[in-house]
Amino acid sequence: MEYLAFVLALSFWWAIIHLITSGLARRNSGSPRLPPGPRPFPIIGNIFQLGNQPHQAAAKLSKTYGPLMTLKLGRRTTIVISSPDLAKEALQKHDQAFSSRTIPDTARAFDHHKFSMTWLPASAQWRSLRKVSAQQIFVPQRLHSTEAIRCKKVQQLVDHVKENCNSGEAVDIGRAAFTTVLNAISNTFFSTDLAEYCSDASQEFLDLVVGTMEEAGRPNIVDYFPALRLVDPQGARRRMNVYFRNFFVVLDGIIDKRLQSRASSLGSKPTSDVLDSLLNLIEEDDAELSCDHMKHLLQDLFAAGTDTTSSTVEWAMTELLHSPKKMAKARKEIEEVLGKDGLVQESNILKLPYLQAIVKETFRLHPPAPFLVPHKAEVDVEMCGFTVPKNAQILVNVWAMGRDSSVWKNPNLFLPERFLDKEIDFKGRDFELIPFGAGRRICPGLPMANRMVHLMLASLVHGFNWKLADEMKPKDIDMREMFGITLHKAEPLLAIPIKSV
Ligand code: HEM
Repeated sequence: MEYLAFVLALSFWWAIIHLITSGLARRNSGSPRLPPGPRPFPIIGNIFQLGNQPHQAAAKLSKTYGPLMTLKLGRRTTIVISSPDLAKEALQKHDQAFSSRTIPDTARAFDHHKFSMTWLPASAQWRSLRKVSAQQIFVPQRLHSTEAIRCKKVQQLVDHVKENCNSGEAVDIGRAAFTTVLNAISNTFFSTDLAEYCSDASQEFLDLVVGTMEEAGRPNIVDYFPALRLVDPQGARRRMNVYFRNFFVVLDGIIDKRLQSRASSLGSKPTSDVLDSLLNLIEEDDAELSCDHMKHLLQDLFAAGTDTTSSTVEWAMTELLHSPKKMAKARKEIEEVLGKDGLVQESNILKLPYLQAIVKETFRLHPPAPFLVPHKAEVDVEMCGFTVPKNAQILVNVWAMGRDSSVWKNPNLFLPERFLDKEIDFKGRDFELIPFGAGRRICPGLPMANRMVHLMLASLVHGFNWKLADEMKPKDIDMREMFGITLHKAEPLLAIPIKSV
């Protein structure tokens, strides 16, 4: 409400300035022919038409205005793309022109946007960061050599669930999956755990990552009216500064300790984990990577990799608990491959087509980044006879594409079977399903995320029967979404594990 009052109070003054400046601008230059869209209100534009579920509201509006639609969000011209064909045109044909980012104000905290792989334009610096992460972190050899880490962390998840199984306590699936992903990433990077399953334990790092995501996901008026940046009226950048500072204090501690142990290891340079590899790069004579870049890169990877991966597992489990026959079918498939007690390994995933179909169907209905990460036009681009103007924000509504009845039969039903005879690889070639984006900005963490999601889901389904907490029936599960930096379940999924007989 505070936010609403602020917008209304601003409206009057802005209306006057806006009417004068836009009148002058129109007189001086021919306006580009923008794609159609709902009529914007003075000053605020279409902000309130998007409400608090903007992906759903935009999907509805695009039924009226088409798959290439203009919205005015405060001062920001936004183009929403809602069909696979246009997403392909935007992210493949116009990949370079649309490769920049609109930067949310919270990403300016600690000058993060000047170092960050996620927020830099597709510049030489960005290319260098992508190269470092491709060669040092997501390279197949590293993924192969860190498989044991992911398996161990998932085994710890299973142990945690077993404890709840014995005590009859419900598991918060999203939270447990988040802890698992966080530790899998922190062990790949630093060879150390940074979170615990027990909610009473000190969770400094986990709280920092969660706090950062929550702050980044909150609507911020500065993103609609950049002139307010200096004022930071909601205090979002100030709070984000604190999160970043605390995050870097923890990181500095880990780095200092590592530098000391490297110094005492008599000149040999170990390359056991990602941190060692990155420090080796920094120490090279013509180093492309600075310590600041490394720290911001690690921040990006934790922020982009944890919540997206864990919320996919939570949604997949939600859908399976909602459809017990599909849960039983998935369990049977896993048992046929692994027997009753076998441990799930990454090499098993290829032999589990139904499990893979469940993950695809989960991404179709619940893409963790429903608009991808906002792109920005570097130049004017012609699409469908309209102009996408320079500096416009581009939102690719993958949520709308996943629920489009002209693309999918029964789009609102969870039917993994639809993928059993349909090859989709997420690599941005099949534009009906691009939960990881496409083109040069495609998610670099895709192979790691994919492994983690399948491994966690298979282990949760294989080891246990599940029932909903509070005697809830499958049909009563709350399927509402909460829009934020990641598309979460509005209510956490609480489920009780039961020994599988
Ligand atoms: C289910 C899990 C995940 C999903 C659905 C996902 C999805 C995405 C999407 C949609 C984008 C933006 C693509 C675009 O702008 O076109 C992205 C970017 C990114 N993702 Fe992921 N992601 C996941 C997991 C991960 C993991 C595990 C990591 C790393 C550990 C990661 C790191 C990143 C980074 C650094 C970027 C920014 C890339 C850039 O702008 O150049 N993601 N991801």
